[in-house]
Amino acid sequence: MLETLQMAPPDPILGLSEAFRQDPNPHKINLSVGVYQDAQGKTPTLAVVKAAERRLLEEEANKGYLGIDGLPEYGRHVQELLLGPAHPIIAQGRAVTAQTPGGTGALRVAADFFQQKLRGRRIWVSEPTWANHPSVFQAAGLEVGTYPYLNAAGTGLDLDGLLATLRTVPAGDAVCLHASCHNPTGIDPTVDQWRLIAQVLVQRQLLPLVDFAYQGFAESIEADRAGLLVLADADVDMLICSSFSKNFGLYGERVGALTLVAPTAERAQVGLSHIKVCIRTNYSNPPRHGGLIVARILGDSQLRARWLDEVTAMRDRIAGMRRLFVDTLRAKGVTRDFSFITQQRGMFSYSGITPAQVDRLRSEYAIYLVRSGRINVAGMTESNMDRLCDAIRDVL
Ligand code: LMR
Repeated sequence: MLETLQMAPPDPILGLSEAFRQDPNPHKINLSVGVYQDAQGKTPTLAVVKAAERRLLEEEANKGYLGIDGLPEYGRHVQELLLGPAHPIIAQGRAVTAQTPGGTGALRVAADFFQQKLRGRRIWVSEPTWANHPSVFQAAGLEVGTYPYLNAAGTGLDLDGLLATLRTVPAGDAVCLHASCHNPTGIDPTVDQWRLIAQVLVQRQLLPLVDFAYQGFAESIEADRAGLLVLADADVDMLICSSFSKNFGLYGERVGALTLVAPTAERAQVGLSHIKVCIRTNYSNPPRHGGLIVARILGDSQLRARWLDEVTAMRDRIAGMRRLFVDTLRAKGVTRDFSFITQQRGMFSYSGITPAQVDRLRSEYAIYLVRSGRINVAGMTESNMDRLCDAIRDVL
């Protein structure tokens, strides 16, 4: 049976991590996968996560299965982080949450739910979007359309193009939106632009599927939910796929959530019953450990405050690297204007570096970027900046 099967291509993002690991160059730089690195180029476990794990080790009495939708207290914390603790949607019971294996797990369950239970046919993603979005949605049996996102200069949002395309989308389709820290561009709509997007979603009766993987990496946990709150005010049904990979550094623990916002508490419960069927027929129930860590930290005011400090430190370091990158390129005589990189938010920037230049960076300098030119700014450090900017100047 396997004779005719051809080798699948490597994953455009995770495939680079494998290649990076195998690269013997001691000066190699990894700016590909969206993983935070500290000033020493390491990705250590957050100190608050270690503290919570020590407590869990003492307290945890069994390793039994979680419910199909995960820990109940985890769901409550997720909703409060997403919408703010006092949001009426929570008080009215209109949000339901299932703990999922990472944000990708949430996306797949959301897509299955949309396709199998809501009879959805198509989802629209930004061009460009996270490289795995189209694949996850297609694997769930959905057609994938695209709406424009980048302006002609490649440095800002093409709001007119985005709105014009959404105005042509048939009612009942879903639209994938990035709540903040757009991956791969780092370009987010302003609140006024979110209002215009929400208007079109309402007029066209489209279902927003919001990917919220980087809460806290743009401005703050609270400010980063601004776009989501605009959608919540618009009274649309909504699927929100969120992740604690980045803001808790829990990458390999696979800790995410799918939250459904429905018009009534009763509709939310009906929706959850079907989401649970999608989960049970896929991976049965979510992994325990990461969910317990998050619930432990968010449920304890001291641990929570320590976590917020660590998120702030990660965000500030990335912002500092954005400025240093732009200044260093300028100091090295690069005349192209890269100042837009300091305006972009989150881990990523769309650098405008071409695939051919990306290939040269990798083969000649052991510097790894996604071929689209996406840079993970969180992989920059003060010690690799000179080498990185010299190499970019050479290939430009
Ligand atoms: C990324 O975009 O690099 C991250 O979200 C990691 C991944 O799974 O691709």
